Amino acid sequence: MKRIITRTLAAGAVATLALAGLTACSDDNGGGGSDAGSGGGSASGTVGVSMPTQTSERWIFDGNNTRQGLEDAGFEVNLQFANDDIPTQQQQIDQMITQGVDVLIIASIDGTALGTQLEAAAAAGIPVISYDRLIRDTENIDFYVTFDNFQVGVDQATSLISGLETHFAGVSPWYVELFAGSLDDNNAHFFWDGAMSVLQPRIDDGSIVVGSGQTTIEQGATMRWSQEAAQTRMENLITAHYGGGSGALHGVLSPFDGISRGIITALQNAGYGPTLADGLPVVTGQDAEVASVSMIDQGIQYSTIFKDTRLLAEQAVAAAVSFANGETPTPNNTTDYDNGVFVVPSFLLPVSIVNIDNIVVELVDTGFLTEEQIAAGVM
Ligand code: GAL
Repeated sequence: MKRIITRTLAAGAVATLALAGLTACSDDNGGGGSDAGSGGGSASGTVGVSMPTQTSERWIFDGNNTRQGLEDAGFEVNLQFANDDIPTQQQQIDQMITQGVDVLIIASIDGTALGTQLEAAAAAGIPVISYDRLIRDTENIDFYVTFDNFQVGVDQATSLISGLETHFAGVSPWYVELFAGSLDDNNAHFFWDGAMSVLQPRIDDGSIVVGSGQTTIEQGATMRWSQEAAQTRMENLITAHYGGGSGALHGVLSPFDGISRGIITALQNAGYGPTLADGLPVVTGQDAEVASVSMIDQGIQYSTIFKDTRLLAEQAVAAAVSFANGETPTPNNTTDYDNGVFVVPSFLLPVSIVNIDNIVVELVDTGFLTEEQIAAGVM
């Protein structure tokens, strides 16, 4: 088995580092970077930052990096996480507006559920920055900072195919299952559309067969991006379409590392793998969460998509500084993100595919994760 990171560390060192990693967990600025917001200019006032959840590592980094960058720029910050609960997010934003924040930065849970809050924000003259997930069906947002979400899907599918070519060379057709994200998150649709732009021609020509026949985003969807829901769906698919684990299954398109881990657990429990070298299906992912990067390093998960959330936080901070100074941030995309009411001026950041061969270059050399964290599988 090819292990890039863990093979370089003695077992004792790994155990010690695991403990160090756990301790580092409580550090606000730990992992995923801590230098967001530099160069964003300076400002004063208060920014309300509403993040969806702390159940996934990335949103904790997003929240902490954004807060740090805003504070460095001179703002006071009210940062709230909403436990993936829509009424909680609505209340938290209501309170920020009542408190009189000067700018709002919001990563929504349900992109269509904040209409009332955003009307109140607009009435109070508070500019709203939609963070990573586009807030839909409202005119009351001012800017959108995100990654190239269609490209994420293209990269996930491209990586799935390269994994199939590597681990199931000469097999035809490849049996594949498809997972999507949460339908109330606009990004899930971009990821799916990007992925299907690559996969649909291969499904049409028969080189890829979706054994369950479930090829619509609705069938593949995973409510709230839940790892448990993904595991359950994968278990059901294995039971119904793959003889409980005896059937050939070569790949699973997964849009997010949490979902990937649920899928992998179901696959391993059914007897696939436990590693790619033993026939585990190729599973993709997204976010470069440390638990998944560790599994990639161990030859279990095939790939993830790295999105440098430090840079996203930096863009959000820069936009907040612009608004606070009465200016308008400069978009780099004014065509792709129609929220149902208007095309929202957006700033898109690039993404990259990570697999076992480029973990160090993409994630360690860039300071996103340390080798120790990856070896330990925790922050
Ligand atoms: C999406 C985001 C992904 C992933 C997912 C689950 O909106 O773009 O990177 O984090 O949510 O949290």
